Amino acid sequence: MTILTGDCRAVMPAHAPFDLILADPPYGDTSLAWDRRVDGWLPLARAALAPAGSLWVFGSLRCFMATADQFADAGLRLAQEIVWEKQNGTGFHADRFKRVHELAVQFYPAETPWRDIYNDVQTTPDATARTVRRKQRPPHTGHIDAGHYVSLDGGPRLMRSVIYVRNAHRHAIHPTEKPSALLEILIRTSCPEGGLVGDWFTGSGAAGEACRLSGRRYLGCEIDARMADRARARIAQVLPFHDGGAS
Ligand SMILES: C[S@@+](CC[C@H](N)C(=O)[O-])C[C@H]1O[C@@H](n2cnc3c(N)ncnc32)[C@H](O)[C@@H]1O
Repeated sequence: MTILTGDCRAVMPAHAPFDLILADPPYGDTSLAWDRRVDGWLPLARAALAPAGSLWVFGSLRCFMATADQFADAGLRLAQEIVWEKQNGTGFHADRFKRVHELAVQFYPAETPWRDIYNDVQTTPDATARTVRRKQRPPHTGHIDAGHYVSLDGGPRLMRSVIYVRNAHRHAIHPTEKPSALLEILIRTSCPEGGLVGDWFTGSGAAGEACRLSGRRYLGCEIDARMADRARARIAQVLPFHDGGAS
């Protein structure tokens, strides 16, 4: 569990291969000092993926549309997206819907078949037992069938792509901090146990916490030295933390 201080483009490629890369880059949507778009990281991330590895990127639809060519140029193909629904939102515009969601989009190398990408699709244990009505057979088949059957238990069901998790709000140490519970879902889905997660734009270190909880190895990178220190302290507070000496 290590957080490196520096520019991910310079620092992270040397630590490849990553089983999963998480990236929550600055969106360039505000005038805040840290919110500057970073160029050129996508091809580096693509090259740093393990053969079965994939990349989850956070961002707004606006920013994905603006950068769609860059993903294609880096040889990355879109796999799927999830919507993170939060309890409160950011109202940049008074004349638009209050935005209470963010997107995370998964990409994988275009030349790799999807079936070769590590994918442990998550389930929730909340399917409900139900009565299923069979379709009526046409009478001329002469076959008499039960009209319905009851599924014995609800069992697990595939996790849905809209995921509600409260954001860190008052406890957050970073203005765009993601809840570690949400990151844990993505990590369990896309990185094998014991695998290495690269968190190229670390911020608060929320992904480090999620890796510790889910038994994955973690390497974060944060360009802001003060934020990197706070992220290390945050993780150390809740969980055992081994800083591999790099800083
Ligand atoms: C959107 S925030 C990430 C928030 C993080 N996901 C969390 O849950 O706290 C982006 C972070 O990337 C950092 N950053 C910006 N450019 C970077 C670069 N070239 N390399 C590494 N980190 C960078 C910023 O300082 C900022 O903390």
